[in-house]
Amino acid sequence: MNTSLQDLGVSNGDVLLEISYLVAAVLFVIGLKLMSHPESARKGNFWAAGGMGLAMITTLLLHRGDDGSLIALNNGIVIVVAIIFGSILGTIIARRIKMTAMPQLVSFFNATGGAASALVALMEYSNPNNTSALVTLLGLVIGAIAFSGSMIAYGKLDGKIGDIFAGWVKYFNMVIMVITIALIYYMLAYDLDASTQSALAYALLAIALIYGIMFVMPIGGADMPVVISLLNSLTGIAAAMAGFIYHNQAMILGGIFVGSAGSILTILMTKAMNRSLLNVIIGSFGGGGAAVDKEHGNIKEITLSDASVLLSYSQTVVIVPGYGLAVAQAQYACNDLVKLLEDKGVDVKFAIHPVAGRMPGHMNVLLAEADVPYTKLVEMDTINPSLPNTDVTIVIGANDVVNPAALDDPSSPIYGMPIINAHESKNIIVMKRGMGKGYAGIENFLFFNDKTRMLFGNAKDSIQALVNEIKQL
Ligand code: TAP
Repeated sequence: MNTSLQDLGVSNGDVLLEISYLVAAVLFVIGLKLMSHPESARKGNFWAAGGMGLAMITTLLLHRGDDGSLIALNNGIVIVVAIIFGSILGTIIARRIKMTAMPQLVSFFNATGGAASALVALMEYSNPNNTSALVTLLGLVIGAIAFSGSMIAYGKLDGKIGDIFAGWVKYFNMVIMVITIALIYYMLAYDLDASTQSALAYALLAIALIYGIMFVMPIGGADMPVVISLLNSLTGIAAAMAGFIYHNQAMILGGIFVGSAGSILTILMTKAMNRSLLNVIIGSFGGGGAAVDKEHGNIKEITLSDASVLLSYSQTVVIVPGYGLAVAQAQYACNDLVKLLEDKGVDVKFAIHPVAGRMPGHMNVLLAEADVPYTKLVEMDTINPSLPNTDVTIVIGANDVVNPAALDDPSSPIYGMPIINAHESKNIIVMKRGMGKGYAGIENFLFFNDKTRMLFGNAKDSIQALVNEIKQL
């Protein structure tokens, strides 16, 4: 006898829904693959957004609640209003945000993802049809930590919250962690009445929120991008757990993608900074290293006309962009400078450090915005061997990523971090506003190097002035 899916209680709608989730997952994977190259990243975003759109629409139209009715019939208006409100708000925020504030935005979105997962877990914990109590409680805790931790990270990046480096915080956090585990065990092991269960779920939520705050609070502002990436992976894990609660494949897969991408990114960032994750979490970063004294020489400045002559008569020029280029929004002026020099027969390339700026791929995105061809962007390991033969290296708003202390000062907090060896080139021009320190808050001996000359000023103004000067040669 043949048994059809209908006999098993599976409707055509259920089958269609599962197929749509599979298609959405494939679209996520294609999107992620395309995002791995700057040239195709924009397309990747569309593919992944298409997958998410498909999963949302089919869930709305085909997903059935516990009572077997379509969810859109019961909650249609609430869902549509929430989607419209969220879409409008998201579009406004994304359009208004400045490139330099992108890490804050990522952190804020992270927080909302964590909050959504925690709320799902909180609601579903008391649902008698929910058979995954452990996953629900873990989703509640991880989602809440991701939410409060990301909000603190957002505040720190935006300069609204300072660092607290009190030694007792890590012991406090350990105690909270033990209480959390004990509470989860108690809630799972004992047969509690509904009101006790609900009270304990709220208590667990409060404890997890406190843990998120206290976990991020002592971490140095300088390490925030790494922490955000870590919190991002936590949000993904929390979303995957929410997917388990609902037996929803699209949510599980989406959460796993975010969780694993966040973890890989965290590892890549700590590697590029030559730090361990533990060191990021418990060690405050910044300051330290040898102080600059007279022995290290004096700062030498360069005039615009000298700089323009030096550059125009060079054969090879390498530009090292850094955070200051993003702050000054000097990417367009920079592209003008490149074109002008190329017209004069100079070979110009960009040296890209993996953690230049404040987020992964920051420089690639910034330069792509100004239509700098990708072929001109050369990774650190590839460009370093050619720097001793480079006539001029122009460091624009970069500091830590060209700091030779990373190579030769064991007392420096960035010792061991791979850098772009600008100091090896024949001439170095550094463009920055003054003697301000970089992210790590330490001195940079490159500025005192005999071959280095400083062109002080806002990067955009300096480059524009340089372009005008070269045009007049
Ligand atoms: P930084 O070391 O932060 O130095 C940026 C420099 O830009 C400052 O010294 C500043 O000097 C200058 N500057 C600021 N505004 C400027 C403007 N308007 N015009 C000209 N110059 C300006 O930048 P970097 O070399 O790109 O290094 C990045 C740092 O961030 C590294 O320490 C890295 O480990 C850390 N980090 C990055 C990431 C990612 S994923 N990118 C993640 C975590 C940590 P003045 O004030 O004198 O102008």
